[in-house]
Amino acid sequence: MPQYHSLGQIPPKRHTQFRKADGTLYSEELFSTHGFSNVYSLIYHCHPPTLIKSMGEPFSREPKVAFQRTLKHMRLNGFSVTPEDDYIKSKKPILVNNDLHISLAAPRKSIDNYFLKNADADELIFVHQGSGTLKTLYGSIDFKYGDYVMIPRGTIYQLKFKDDNNRLLVVDSFSPIETCKRYRNEYGQYEEHSPYCERDFRKPQNLETHDEEGEFIVMIKKQHIVYPYTYATHPFDAIGWDGNHYPWAFSIHDFEPITGRIHLPPPVHQTFEAHNYVICSFVPRLFDYHPLSIPVPYNHSNIDSDEVLYYVDGDFMSRKNTEKGMITLHPGGIPHGPHPGTVEKSLGAKETKELAVMIDTFKPLWITEEALKIESDEYYKSWLEK
Ligand SMILES: [Fe+2]
Repeated sequence: MPQYHSLGQIPPKRHTQFRKADGTLYSEELFSTHGFSNVYSLIYHCHPPTLIKSMGEPFSREPKVAFQRTLKHMRLNGFSVTPEDDYIKSKKPILVNNDLHISLAAPRKSIDNYFLKNADADELIFVHQGSGTLKTLYGSIDFKYGDYVMIPRGTIYQLKFKDDNNRLLVVDSFSPIETCKRYRNEYGQYEEHSPYCERDFRKPQNLETHDEEGEFIVMIKKQHIVYPYTYATHPFDAIGWDGNHYPWAFSIHDFEPITGRIHLPPPVHQTFEAHNYVICSFVPRLFDYHPLSIPVPYNHSNIDSDEVLYYVDGDFMSRKNTEKGMITLHPGGIPHGPHPGTVEKSLGAKETKELAVMIDTFKPLWITEEALKIESDEYYKSWLEK
């Protein structure tokens, strides 16, 4: 869970008079989640955050689902997704269900002439290629290759990229994305066995207060529809804030792998959890060190979950023909396992350089039309290849 954080100026006592230099009051906003019972922040705006000038024409970003029911191992070429200038257009949902949308995005341009707000999903952006800065009303976070950037629902933001060569894996999560409860003690502190700790999480910095009036377009996404709102004041007008609702970043390179003498199952790679799915990080690590160990995984029937593996870098020991940005979908219901020859090849190997993100869902994923555009044929037969 995010730790308490504060930037800028705040009054010593909450919900009390907090005045500007000219004697007028700052405008306090309680930003709360899950009613009033989950994490929240108190934000002090130069202007009320309610000054709507006009509403534009809403447009749909609902994923176009090709199959809701399917039972097929699939391989998708993630880097074949077409780059787009505009960030909203660039985000293409490929595997979705009612718990999450998994999208690929190759945006060429920063978000400059509008702001974004996802009103009903936390957004986790995994940065595969590119770097830049996430700008929010809570402050800024620089990002680069290997970062998970977490934007909690309702956060108004912009993404500024350094150049036009960006590749992102994005999860829109309809429940909060959290670090694993089993890594935390009863006080919320990460325990000694956790693969990460507080120091690994980067919080917003450099709060810029834009005390500006004019016309500011905020694209608000709610239930897959984007509503363009024009506000009379700049959304990043906070003079200060405190609380636990804010964006953060965590680098996959800071995930400390847990290894053993014999093969350990995927939960040792678990990085985040949410309702009905988990996110895991496979990072470079020493292999199992029992003298007779088999480093690649056994065949497995993840009978109750669909398994999505996104290949980031390095060689993936159990798979043949892996490429950067490739995605495999192994649906629950049928087993999968190492490709022919990879078991023997792995014997005696001391370490792996593989880097991958895995998303395991407990409800079946639906295949979108965008996914079919980048599908490799006949992956399901690939275990027959010699
Ligand atoms: Fe698997």
